[in-house]
Amino acid sequence: MAANPNARRFPEGFLWGAATAAHQIEGSPMADGAGPSIWTRFAHTPGMTVNGDTGDVACDHYNRWKDDVALMASLGLKAYRFSTSWSRILPDGTGRVNQKGLDFYSRLVDELLDKGIEPLLTLYHWDLPAALDDRGGWLNRDVADWFAEYGSVLYRALDGRVKKWVTLNEPWVVTDGGYLHGALAPGHRSKYETPIATHNLMRAHGAAVKAYREIGKHEIGLVVNIEPKYPNTQSPEDLAATKRAHAYMNEQYLDAALLGKYPPELKNEIFGDAWPEWADEDYALIKQKLDFIGINYYTRSVTQATDSYPLKAGAVRQKLGTYTETGWEVFPQGLTDLLVWAKDRYGNLPTYITENGAAFFDPAVAEEGRVRDPLRMGYLKKHLTAIRDAIDQGCDIRGYMVWSLLDNLEWSLGFSKRFGIVHVNYGTQERTPKDSARWYSKAIETHGASIDDPLPY
Ligand code: BGC
Repeated sequence: MAANPNARRFPEGFLWGAATAAHQIEGSPMADGAGPSIWTRFAHTPGMTVNGDTGDVACDHYNRWKDDVALMASLGLKAYRFSTSWSRILPDGTGRVNQKGLDFYSRLVDELLDKGIEPLLTLYHWDLPAALDDRGGWLNRDVADWFAEYGSVLYRALDGRVKKWVTLNEPWVVTDGGYLHGALAPGHRSKYETPIATHNLMRAHGAAVKAYREIGKHEIGLVVNIEPKYPNTQSPEDLAATKRAHAYMNEQYLDAALLGKYPPELKNEIFGDAWPEWADEDYALIKQKLDFIGINYYTRSVTQATDSYPLKAGAVRQKLGTYTETGWEVFPQGLTDLLVWAKDRYGNLPTYITENGAAFFDPAVAEEGRVRDPLRMGYLKKHLTAIRDAIDQGCDIRGYMVWSLLDNLEWSLGFSKRFGIVHVNYGTQERTPKDSARWYSKAIETHGASIDDPLPY
């Protein structure tokens, strides 16, 4: 179908890409001298992941990287967001550099550039070296220096070839999942540890940006996940719960990085005496000039007051809502709302949508080599439209990375949920672009004009 001639296009230079993360796709976690990460350890602990799934093979990207870049090129991607595995590069977390690990990413970057695909490199997508966890991990203040050391190894090796760097992916998930509720590595459950992990993550972020300014010449930013909170009712309890949940999930990390403070609700309403007083010099380290922010968006929450610990707020399932396989409501308007909110609160920094996508039940690959995934196609169409609406409202949005390029290891949910625009057969490792991938290719080719076309079915 021809693209609608009246369709509005995306801004010049808008970057169209897809995202992945090291632990979720690479496999071979111990190859070529690498050390284990907390995820290697966590997934090998009985009962921690669905079906006992681990990242030992995953999408075997460690061996298939060249074909995967060819696949990206065949889809017309202009950018690829990936993460590096800290313990491949520094098996002990600090000190000795494992050249073979570094070479893997160097080759990957060269191949991407060769195919005209811009790399966006995330230093930390949740896979802390196990050796550092043994020294306290995110609970040890020294982690800021360890992280800056690790970043510096990569900056020295790749800056110039990589021009867009991200320090942390979703610090909120690292602390909420890893230190408060324990569903993610390292699997702790402590109200007292959580604020410390939060603060050290942010200090590490600041230290890594500072180190970048000494070595790198391009751009560095932070990626957060944001989920707008709407009150379930106008009762004072629900309104207060909504404000609390918003402070906890949406303001906590961006306020720290960009405004140099934490929202007062964290101490006053959520963590109480578990929230320590921090030194002024810590805030000075955390608040560094950022070149951009990355926002990961999946869903919203309609919030009500509950007795959940320690937030005392929870989401209300919407009777008329559409939900994905991970139980997340499809709510594109929330993306527009939060982008406008971030613009107003933080001053319209250049922004990338660094993740957006959905797990739906996908049928098997059909004989003609197709996977029909109309729900995912619809999801992408609606969210790209929501981004364009935000651009129309003045938000400086520079690019979009669909989550995910490939079906992959969905952390504790193992291989049970598929987010890819490309289907992966985990038995044969065969890749098959789903219909959503074809739809997305067309969107890239028409620079967004085709997103207004009716869906092909
Ligand atoms: C993470 C991804 C994850 C995705 C879907 C994001 O929170 O960055 O690693 O697979 O959400 O759950």
